Amino acid sequence: MHDKIGVLKYFLKPQHYDIYPLKWSEIFGNKKKIYVEIGFGSGEYMAALAKNNPDINFVGFETSLTALYKAQVKFYKNNIKNARVIQGDARLLIRELFPSNSISKLIVNFPCPWPKQRHKERRIFIESFINTLADVLKKGGTIELATDVDWYAQEVYNNFKDSKFFEAEEIIENFERPIKTKYELKWDKEGRNKYLFIAKK
Ligand SMILES: C[S@@+](CC[C@H](N)C(=O)[O-])C[C@H]1O[C@@H](n2cnc3c(N)ncnc32)[C@H](O)[C@@H]1O
Repeated sequence: MHDKIGVLKYFLKPQHYDIYPLKWSEIFGNKKKIYVEIGFGSGEYMAALAKNNPDINFVGFETSLTALYKAQVKFYKNNIKNARVIQGDARLLIRELFPSNSISKLIVNFPCPWPKQRHKERRIFIESFINTLADVLKKGGTIELATDVDWYAQEVYNNFKDSKFFEAEEIIENFERPIKTKYELKWDKEGRNKYLFIAKK
């Protein structure tokens, strides 16, 4: 049995604050740079990054409450101090919760590509969100997308290439990073290709 209060200390509820955007230096008690992960799933990637990088603050967004809880248990067991999680659609919340030029890196690992045309607006990197990122990312800040879906990697590349605020790097096929996410391990086992795309503001 976990100490529930200990576990839930990572859960940040924006509705408990009066002023937006939030004052992140007060929340973390320091002015370290901020990395954001959208759709962290069970949180293994964010927990490992936060543990290995105590000089960076991490903010994760998830729509699934079960995923939020699993991630918090990982943070608690690893005695992580530099992470918070928020429930909801990151594309809307990031707009409200972060001031201009405040995020150093945004990470999205293996998101659902929403292949059907009628679900297109559910994809993460739609035009309105790219405009939000052009504002909230610091100059020189990066976005990093890992996906197993070739057309989706290409679509996101094109979207950022079309934006005057970003430099789009070439897509890296079958990349290797020191930490693998749950979905990445699954797709590796199935022998799927995977793609890494990075854009710089
Ligand atoms: C396919 S899973 C990948 C999980 C994990 N990143 C991995 O690689 O194992 C995508 C996750 O993104 C979350 N998600 C999808 N859209 C989101 C959004 N707009 N804001 C926050 N989370 C989102 C889903 O709840 C789901 O847990």
